[in-house]
Amino acid sequence: MLGNKVVKVAFFVSALALGGLAANVYADNISFVTTQDGSPMDIDAALFDTPEAQSFLATGKNPYIGNPEAIARGHKIFNLYSCTQCHGPEAKGQVGPGLIGPTFRYAKDATNKGMFETIWHGTNGGMGAKGIGLMDSTDPSNGLKPDEVLKVQAWIRSMGSVTGNE
Ligand code: HEC
Repeated sequence: MLGNKVVKVAFFVSALALGGLAANVYADNISFVTTQDGSPMDIDAALFDTPEAQSFLATGKNPYIGNPEAIARGHKIFNLYSCTQCHGPEAKGQVGPGLIGPTFRYAKDATNKGMFETIWHGTNGGMGAKGIGLMDSTDPSNGLKPDEVLKVQAWIRSMGSVTGNE
């Protein structure tokens, strides 16, 4: 009888320890906030489906900065998603503001985490959300995946002097 109790207690303690571990793994990821009002924004961790996107989720640093292939792909996505039409072919501004810094309309866009949030969830001032599931209310599969946002960002940063990983 006593032995059984000890086993139960031991099980309970290790379940607690496991729970703590899971909570820690979760806490290791950065948390996102909207550019609209700074409120917390949940992005499904499963969407971060490349090693680079996972690394960004853990650190807030964009591993594609300076990577020529990622930059070339990001440039294509910038055109495909019509960013060019509002921000200009060199991201220096057209209808929308220039994106190359060093100053930004939203100061947080000097960081890659901040700019990711702006591209993902949009702003109240004319920039629509581009994140997958948010961009198009008629088609939840439409929009950029985190890995694609990071590549677009790598291209934008390659046009200016701020890397965003400072
Ligand atoms: C229909 C026009 C339009 C399109 C298309 C568009 N944007 Fe924007 N974008 C804007 C406007 C307007 C703003 C300024 C928003 C504000 O002041 O709130 C903006 C702001 C931004 C900012 C913040 C700049 C700063 O100074 O803080 C980023 C980053 C950005 N856009 C990236 C993108 C990317 C990447 C794409 C393509 C995936 C894109 N935009 C597509 C109009 C557009």
